[in-house]
Amino acid sequence: TERSLVLVKPDGYRRGLTGEVLRRIEAKGYALTALAVLTPTREQLAAHYAEHEGKPFYEPLLEFMSSGPVAAAVVEGHGCIAGFRSLAGATDPTAAAPGTIRGDLGRDWGTSVQQNIVHGSDSPESAAREIDIWFPGLG
Ligand code: GTP
Ligand code: MG
Repeated sequence: TERSLVLVKPDGYRRGLTGEVLRRIEAKGYALTALAVLTPTREQLAAHYAEHEGKPFYEPLLEFMSSGPVAAAVVEGHGCIAGFRSLAGATDPTAAAPGTIRGDLGRDWGTSVQQNIVHGSDSPESAAREIDIWFPGLG
């Protein structure tokens, strides 16, 4: 079955949204096959966001992502990569549809395109690469 790497980012973790995010994943029928709470290292984040290196939002993003604990999960289920991205909604929470994590739980006061509650892998290749960063050996 397909796997995806999901992160509840520091804004989501801080706001107590981890359980709600995991509930939506399970309600959709996906399995949680690994779970951890950790404060990311700079090395993990540089690997995770390698594709964005050099972009204007790269440094602020790494700063934000290392600002506190995140919840990391390996999600498994048929079509779970596209399925989780559909649960998450558009990258910018102000554009995310009602019914989605970012659309329902985004907030003007604390949630921006940078602080958008969750991350989900965008391809099977990304998922394997990202799972190995957050759960060494499982990727
Ligand atoms: P992820 O599931 O987090 O990867 O979201 P995504 O695939 O919808 O977005 P993308 O991979 O393009 O960007 C990764 C993350 O960088 C986003 O989730 C945001 O946190 C941040 N980001 C992306 N674009 C911008 C931007 O234009 N400005 C800022 N400040 N942050 C951005
Ligand atoms: Mg992405």
